[in-house]
Amino acid sequence: MSGKTVFDEIAGLFATYGGETYGEGVTIAEHSLQTAALARVEGADETLCLAALLHDVGHFLEERDDRFGYHKHDRSGGDWLAARFPPAVSEPVRLHVAAKRYLCAAEPGYFAVLSEASRHSLAKQGGPMSAGDAAAFAGRPHAAEAVRLRRWDDRGKVAGLEVPQLETYRATVARLAL
Ligand SMILES: [Fe+2]
Repeated sequence: MSGKTVFDEIAGLFATYGGETYGEGVTIAEHSLQTAALARVEGADETLCLAALLHDVGHFLEERDDRFGYHKHDRSGGDWLAARFPPAVSEPVRLHVAAKRYLCAAEPGYFAVLSEASRHSLAKQGGPMSAGDAAAFAGRPHAAEAVRLRRWDDRGKVAGLEVPQLETYRATVARLAL
């Protein structure tokens, strides 16, 4: 990768696109850092903390569909991460939209915690899973991690909250990058 480290790539994406919003009261960079901070506070493995930090990287990679962002960002983000990190980082990201559809099916009351933007994208992402799909999802590798990530994702939208900055993940990125 021509001397550029993976952290440089990530820092570049955050610097270029992180200031964008997607219908939430925080920028994508703020939201990403808050989601990762919640993972750290819960003592998640560093792979899952990194997944939390980078779960919306797909929004940085493609043209947005509307003011709520890019609705296939789970796939593009999962692919981007799979080329750079082990599956414990990329796969919870790939499944984090499915985890929302799963939680809508599996947990009465989950839909009520979703932000307006998240409800809007849910429809475009296929709506709540059927009971059969939800059972199949729960049995997939990395599904449990994707569900944990999803709950931090849903909470990481607090305007003005101070959390550790991107630089604090530099060593983790360097350690886990393929
Ligand atoms: Fe997110």
